[in-house]
Amino acid sequence: MSYFAVAIAWLFTAEALMVAGFGFPAADIAAPETLVLVHIVAIGWLSMCICGALLQFVPVLVGKALFSEAGALPALSLLAAGLTALVLGFLTLGGRLPPWLWLLPVGATLLVSGFGLLAANLVLTMWRARPLAFAARFVLIGLAALGATAALGVCFALALAGYGGTPLDAVLQAGVPLHAIAGLGGWLTLTAMGVSYRLLAMFMLSSDVDDRRSRATMLAGAGTLGLAVAGGLVAIVMQAGLDLVLALTAVCGVATVALYGRDVVELYRKRKRRTLELNTSMAVYALASLAASVVLGLALAASKSIVANVGAFVFLIAFGWLSGLVLAKLYKIVAFLTWLETYGPVMGRVPTPRVQDLVVEPRAAKWFVGYFVSVWVATALLLAGEYSAFRVAAFGMMVATAGIVQELLRVRRLADVTTRVRLPQGAKLPRLLHSGS
Ligand code: HEM
Repeated sequence: MSYFAVAIAWLFTAEALMVAGFGFPAADIAAPETLVLVHIVAIGWLSMCICGALLQFVPVLVGKALFSEAGALPALSLLAAGLTALVLGFLTLGGRLPPWLWLLPVGATLLVSGFGLLAANLVLTMWRARPLAFAARFVLIGLAALGATAALGVCFALALAGYGGTPLDAVLQAGVPLHAIAGLGGWLTLTAMGVSYRLLAMFMLSSDVDDRRSRATMLAGAGTLGLAVAGGLVAIVMQAGLDLVLALTAVCGVATVALYGRDVVELYRKRKRRTLELNTSMAVYALASLAASVVLGLALAASKSIVANVGAFVFLIAFGWLSGLVLAKLYKIVAFLTWLETYGPVMGRVPTPRVQDLVVEPRAAKWFVGYFVSVWVATALLLAGEYSAFRVAAFGMMVATAGIVQELLRVRRLADVTTRVRLPQGAKLPRLLHSGS
């Protein structure tokens, strides 16, 4: 719960910066201000949420307790400190602070320590539960991608601070697309896909996807990632240019998304819960955004305008697909954890509410729809080059996010539980930002 709270604070920060016109699209896509924005979204919001979800979810996936509960808080603190230092380092690059370029490697080291601690905790948890469940393998590939992203990030930070030398400078010159693909496509997207197989099956009472099919999707994802990172690095060493590697990565990436789409359609088709809950109906909007990103990417590539519009493309992936899925799933995860924490200890002894008694879906649905519509409008405005209107759409996203967060806070406070047994004897109101379960 603390990971989610910190993540949401970073999301608001990012949205406020976009409303204020800080970074892309007001600034260039490679400007230091854009790097601030990109990392607040990628690390502060999305990575923090995924890490929090994995700490909760990997033990459930493999049926073993987390290797170290005590390791979760230090990792969170290292990530928060590392991101702050990295962001200050980018502000230094942009001349907004004195030239303290050492902030970049300091931030990178703290981030690597935080991610490393977290990854070690998860890998050791999985190691004790061999042979691994399918979704856990997806998570392992995601963590490998995180390793590649962080390693490239460290090279960039050292090179930008002037400690690099020729080899690292070459990586900085050409390697940014590899870092972005490993981060957004590998770490965030593959992990979200892996976790979504289990969560969607669980929340829709659907049978798991056929093993052979889901393995094909996983292998396609791992192959795409390997091709992008290993092929890209070889191309950089050989000074061959990245065009061929990026084209092949795009083809494999589209194939991975198509296979994943086929699996997800099967999950929805085979569900036993006929009426969709809000988290699964909103996940459809996120999945539609993923499909739309693929179509947009292909259309931009066909019209040779991908370079000019890469910002809009990445925006749709980050806010439509990844953030949309995370927000939709948070709505259920927070309700479920709060229910477990409050009523778990007294279950079976007294009548307790159901998980769905903690939420008021029709009210929350308006905020979710507002969020997705704002994201889609914002993407269209980016494509049209309407940057002032984009800030209005970003404001719409911020208001909708505030509405969703207010719903999450109501869940934590059990504010919508109307049954007589809101707090039966022996049950305690949960703490807002820290889950005791
Ligand atoms: C250890 C953690 C990380 C460090 C130290 C780091 C560092 C950096 C640096 C220094 C750059 C700028 C390179 C340049 O000057 O062109 C950069 C760019 C970028 N990073 Fe990271 N990064 C980290 C993690 C991530 C993660 C987890 C993601 C995504 C999930 C990510 C996404 C990006 C993207 C998309 C860009 C390109 C942004 C642009 O050109 O506007 N980074 N990173």
